[in-house]
Amino acid sequence: MVPRKITKADFDDIVEVIDRWWGGPISTFAHTIFFYELGEHALCVEKDGRLIGFLLGFTTPTAPPRGYVHLVGIHPDHRRRGVGRVLYETFTEACRAAGCEQMKAISTLSNEGSISFHVGVGWNAKEVEDYAGTGRKRIVFTKSLRP
Ligand SMILES: CC(C)(COP(=O)(O)OP(=O)(O)OC[C@H]1O[C@@H](n2cnc3c(N)ncnc32)[C@H](O)[C@@H]1OP(=O)(O)O)[C@@H](O)C(=O)NCCC(=O)NCCS
Repeated sequence: MVPRKITKADFDDIVEVIDRWWGGPISTFAHTIFFYELGEHALCVEKDGRLIGFLLGFTTPTAPPRGYVHLVGIHPDHRRRGVGRVLYETFTEACRAAGCEQMKAISTLSNEGSISFHVGVGWNAKEVEDYAGTGRKRIVFTKSLRP
């Protein structure tokens, strides 16, 4: 199970499967910008030639840069087998090599699977009021890469 950089064909697959994987409409989250402009570190995992997981993430244009995970998804039949963990480890190492000192991701309060996953892989979770606008709380996940 070795993550690799996504291709255009992988991105096309992601757009096709994500509503099913999430159990609802979410395809607008797989905006083209996360492949064409911000896809340098985007990753996927295959099993028997089929996509079973992906991570859309990038490094921010700040000094120092920060690694940001925009969207991660695992095929429902392949969850709790470490696919998300290996995608996060590979992306984090790429971000560390690019000079990042911190990792970040966000989630809604209702996404219990996402919260359990981030805590399970050792990220900090903090509830932030008004993060996404007035009355729109988010859970902000962070992980320090500083020694
Ligand atoms: C959240 C998600 C990416 C996790 O991926 P995964 O491959 O199943 O996660 P892993 O198997 O690598 O889990 C690593 C650890 O996280 C924790 N974890 C992951 N999913 C969990 C869950 N549903 N409940 C409780 N703990 C969980 C566990 O500690 C797990 O370690 P363990 O299995 O050894 O106990 C996957 O469930 C998914 O695609 N969900 C739908 C999309 C989504 O919500 N994405 C995140 C927001 S963008």
